[in-house]
Amino acid sequence: MSGHSTYEPKTGFERWLDMRLPIVRMAHDTALAFPTPKNLNYWWTFGGILAVMLVVQLVTGIVLAMHYVPHVDHAFASVERIMRDVNYGWLIRYMHANGASMFFVAVYIHILRNLYYGSYKAPREILWILGCVIYLLMMATAFMGYVLPWGQMSFHGAVVITNLLGALPIVGEAITTWLWGGFAVDNPTLNRFFSLHYLLPFMIAGVVALHIWALHVPGNNNPTGVNVKSAEDTVPFHPYYTVKDGFAIAVFFLMFASFVFYNPNILGHADNYIPANPLVTPAHIVPEWYFLPFYAILRAVPDKLGGVLLMFGAIGVLFVLPWLDTSKVRSMRYRPTARLYFLIFVVACLVLGFCGAKLPDDPVIPGVSTFQLFDADLNSFVWLSRIATAYYFAYFVVILPILGLTETPLPVPDSISAPVLSHPATTPAGAVASPEKRG
Ligand code: HEM
Repeated sequence: MSGHSTYEPKTGFERWLDMRLPIVRMAHDTALAFPTPKNLNYWWTFGGILAVMLVVQLVTGIVLAMHYVPHVDHAFASVERIMRDVNYGWLIRYMHANGASMFFVAVYIHILRNLYYGSYKAPREILWILGCVIYLLMMATAFMGYVLPWGQMSFHGAVVITNLLGALPIVGEAITTWLWGGFAVDNPTLNRFFSLHYLLPFMIAGVVALHIWALHVPGNNNPTGVNVKSAEDTVPFHPYYTVKDGFAIAVFFLMFASFVFYNPNILGHADNYIPANPLVTPAHIVPEWYFLPFYAILRAVPDKLGGVLLMFGAIGVLFVLPWLDTSKVRSMRYRPTARLYFLIFVVACLVLGFCGAKLPDDPVIPGVSTFQLFDADLNSFVWLSRIATAYYFAYFVVILPILGLTETPLPVPDSISAPVLSHPATTPAGAVASPEKRG
């Protein structure tokens, strides 16, 4: 929606600057005057929440790096020193650790919102793909960040995940050795992980800038999925959405603060308060909660290479989603059948997350024994993971392509204003209808 600029420099200095570097004009046009659909709901506030969380992670991370020592002999102790001796070090560290979790909460909601309202469809494919790139970078950053405190989970998690690359044929071993900087996860590994953990968030910030740029060309999608047709359908971003986003950010921060101040370790693992010891492997190595669905997919496949490929495939499939979904209707508001399959998809993701936290051979229903199939009892988490994994892929590769061609969508409104004006609760004059009509 790149219309003409409405910026008018007010002072002599603004006019002078505008002739040379129209940066204030750009900020005005993208953040203040930007025409935004007037029907965006609260699911649209998560982009802004993510932007703020990225800044929180950058600021707290830079302060932590001033006190952290990236060496296997000092890393664990340096983190403990931050917690005990550095002024407000505990706050900075807990904000950074829980901030990572909050970042993932927000990104998962953001992604699911896009899936539901079909925001990945034309003309927003590049915007969506840039989002997928951000998501990959976020995962790499979080994984390497978790290694830095050099606790038991840091070390053994790093061993498990880096060893996965060894499953790749021919090049696997060479890549793993190159990544480790030696023949095991050791000091060179910690050093490069620290370096990359510092670098990647800035790359994320760069891709976010492209993401916002790609958003501002077609403009926002909206809950109806119907294209904006006239200026009547939009309002300027400021003050309408600065206030709405601001409110959502404040509420999100209350939740964030409740973790930081009341239960800062609930999302972590107790074993990471034990210094890394290569000779003692924890009984149950679990990643952070936001990786659990992928961990479940990895373990669902009996073959190591197959598991690795499927795990990366679970993210890879997102990149081609705009071309897999054949439906002409964007929003699932008007696709009742697709909505049902979407709901099952969300449940499958939650089931995968749940399975990822369990031991694969544990029974789903304790005390009930079924029969062995292939390598495990049917009543085991590995089997539940297999079913959920199958659905995860089927949703993208089978259900969305076929459903788009076969389903009958509900009538789609002509404009984004139509469903509001025809709602039984309002009359065109804006008067409230009688209670029995409100349904
Ligand atoms: C650091 C992470 C991210 C930031 C800061 C960010 C920021 C934003 C912002 C500010 C918006 C506009 C407001 C909104 O629609 O909520 C937006 C929209 C969008 N984002 Fe992101 N985003 C991030 C990650 C992602 C990821 C991981 C994906 C997908 C995999 C994604 C896909 C999209 C799409 C498709 C839209 C357009 C939504 C629409 O117009 O309806 N974003 N993003």
